[in-house]
Amino acid sequence: MSKDTIILTPLAEDVYTGLQARNKYLSSKYFYDAKGDELFQRIMHLDEYYLTRKELEIFETHKKAILEEINDGEPFRIIELGAGDGLKTKVLLKYFIEQGVDFTYTPVDISGNVLEILESNLKADIPGLNIESYEGDYFDALAEISESPEKDIVFFLGSTIGNFSQEEAEVFLTDLQNYLKEGDLLFLGVDLKKDPSIILKAYNDSQGVTREFNLNLLDRINSELGADFDRDQFLHYPYYNPHTGECRSYLISKIDQVVTIGEDEFHFREWEAIFMEISKKYDQPQLEELASASGFRRLASFLDSERWFADLLWAK
Ligand code: AVJ
Repeated sequence: MSKDTIILTPLAEDVYTGLQARNKYLSSKYFYDAKGDELFQRIMHLDEYYLTRKELEIFETHKKAILEEINDGEPFRIIELGAGDGLKTKVLLKYFIEQGVDFTYTPVDISGNVLEILESNLKADIPGLNIESYEGDYFDALAEISESPEKDIVFFLGSTIGNFSQEEAEVFLTDLQNYLKEGDLLFLGVDLKKDPSIILKAYNDSQGVTREFNLNLLDRINSELGADFDRDQFLHYPYYNPHTGECRSYLISKIDQVVTIGEDEFHFREWEAIFMEISKKYDQPQLEELASASGFRRLASFLDSERWFADLLWAK
C-alpha cells in the first residue's frame, strides 16, 4: 500500500486504521466539519435531543447556587473547553456580570471561526464581559493558561465527556487534573441514565438529523480523501447498553460492497458495522468512580427537575 511512503493527515491516518480493524470504526471527533457543525446545531434544537434543553434549565434554575459555590470573592478565570455557540454558558456569564463578579472568560476551540462568532455575539449581549479567546487544542490551552496566578474554573459542558468510555474519561480527566492548581475547579456536564427509550430517541430522531450527522462523516471522507462511499448503502443504528450507559451509534453496510479510498480497497460484508460514536450516560457509582480515579473532590451537583442531566462541580 502507498500508505507507507506518503505523509497522511490525521483524518486519513485514523480512517485507514479504523477501516482496517477487525471491528471497523471511525472517530466521532471528525464529525465537526462545516456541515457537521451545522447538523449538530440542528440536533440541539430537536425536541428529542433533550440534553441541551436540560442543561439550559439547570443553569437558569441554579445560577445563584452555582455562583455561590464558585465565587470566594477573589477574581477568577473561566476556561471553557469546546465552547461552541456559547448559548447555554451565556446564561451564567450574564448573571455573573449582573452580580458584579470579577472574572475573565476564556473560550477554547480549535476553530478560530467559531471563536470569532462567539466573541462578537457575547460582546454585543453582555457588555462588560472580559473575553480572552484561545484558539487551539484543549491541553495546549490548559498548559498555557494554567500558568496564571488566579483561580481557574474549567467548564466542560454539554456531555462532551460522553464521547469517551468510562476508562477514556478517567484518563482524560486525570490529565486535565494534572494541569490544575490546588483550589481550581472543574464544572462538568454529564448526561444521566434514564428510560432507555428516551435515550434512543435522542440518537435516532424522527427527522433523521442524527442519521445525517453520522452519514456526513462518510461524505467528508469522500470529499477530503477521495473515497467513494455510497451513503445510501449504509444504515444508521444507535444502540443503548443500560449496564455501561453507553449509547453507541453504528453505520451498517446493507450489502456486500467494496469502498475505495484512492488506490486502497475496503471490503464490507453484508451487515458489517462501522462503530461511529459513544454517547455515555452516567449513574452515581460511575460518577464517584470517575471523580476518585481522576483525583477530583466532589463539591456540588446541579440537576434538572427530572434528573436527566447533571452539572457537577469538582475541585482539585
Ligand atoms: C456533542 C458529544 C454531546 O453525544 O450527545 C449528538 C454529539 N451525537 N447526537 C452527544 C451527538 C449525536 C453529542 N455531544
